[in-house]
Amino acid sequence: MNIEVDKLIYPLFVKKGRNLKEEILSMPGVYRFSPDLLVKEVGVLKKLGIRRILIFGIPLTKDPKGTSSYVEGNMVSSAVKLIKFFHPEMTIITDVCLCNYTTHGHCGIIKKRTRKIDNIATLKALSRIALSHANAGADCVAPSAKAKNEVRAIRKTLDSSGFKHIKIMGYSAKFASNFYGPFRDIADSAPRFGDRKSYQLDYARADHALDRAKQDIKEGADIIMVKPTLGYLDIVKNLKHRFKHPLAAYNVSGEYSMVKNGVKAGFWKEKDMVLEIISSIKRSGADYIITYHAKDIAKWLKKR
Ligand code: PBG
Repeated sequence: MNIEVDKLIYPLFVKKGRNLKEEILSMPGVYRFSPDLLVKEVGVLKKLGIRRILIFGIPLTKDPKGTSSYVEGNMVSSAVKLIKFFHPEMTIITDVCLCNYTTHGHCGIIKKRTRKIDNIATLKALSRIALSHANAGADCVAPSAKAKNEVRAIRKTLDSSGFKHIKIMGYSAKFASNFYGPFRDIADSAPRFGDRKSYQLDYARADHALDRAKQDIKEGADIIMVKPTLGYLDIVKNLKHRFKHPLAAYNVSGEYSMVKNGVKAGFWKEKDMVLEIISSIKRSGADYIITYHAKDIAKWLKKR
C-alpha cells in the first residue's frame, strides 16, 4: 500500500514577526515561522507535492478569554490571506481552538467560580475564530476544543455568513493523551490547573469515540479525525468501517519526538521507522494523515 503525498497534511505554526524561523526544542525539524517565511515554506512544500496544510497560531498575548484568536488581523487569518495570495491551489485547514490563546491554557472559556468550561461562551468564541479564518480564505476549519456541539455551532455560523462551501474537519475522537506533550511546548499551552480529561476522551474506552464521531457527522462534519494514532489504530479502523466517512488520523507531536529521539540514540533509521508508522496508519483505514514527517516523507518518496 503506497503512501500518497497529496493525502498527507502538514502542520505549520505561525507567529508574529519577520524573518523568523525558530526551531522547537522538543521537535527537531519543526519551526515557528513568521508569515513571510511561512509563505516561502509553503512554496517548498508545493514543489514537494504536499497539497494540504494545517495552520496553528502562536499569539504574542494571551488572556483568560483567548481574544487574540479572533481579533481583526489575528495571526492565523493574516497567514491564510498571504498563503492564499501566493499559493491559491494549496488547501488550507486551520485549527480552531482556544488553548494557545488563553492564560489558563484550557481549550475553552472557564467559569470563574466553578472553574468549569462555559460551553455557550466557548461556542461563541470558536465560531468567531472559524469565521475569521473563513473570511481570510481558509478551505476547511478544524475545531479541536472538544466543546459540546462545536461542529454544529461553527457550521451554522459559516452557513449564515455565505461560507456553505467551507469544510469542517472535526477532531472527533480526540483522546486525553500523554502524546501531546511536545506540542504544548510549541504554544506554551499546557493547562495551568487541572487537565483536559473533562473534555477529551478516556483512552481506556472505545465506545465514546464511536459516539463522538457519529455526533460530529450528524452536526455536519465533512471529515472526522482520530488523534493520536499510535496506540489508537483500532479506533481508526472502527471508525472507517462504521461510518465510511472521510477520515483523518493525527500522528501527533509525542509520536514524532519519540521517533526523533530514537534516531538520535541510534535505535533505528528515521526513514525506515517513519515509513513503517505511516504505512500502518494508512493500512488501518485513514484517508488523510496529519504528520510532522510529511516534508521528509515527500523528499524520500521523490528520490525513490
Ligand atoms: C489544541 C490542539 C492540541 C493538539 C492539536 N490541537 C493540543 C492539546 O489538545 O493539548 C496536539 C497536536 C500534537 O500533539 O501534535 N487543542
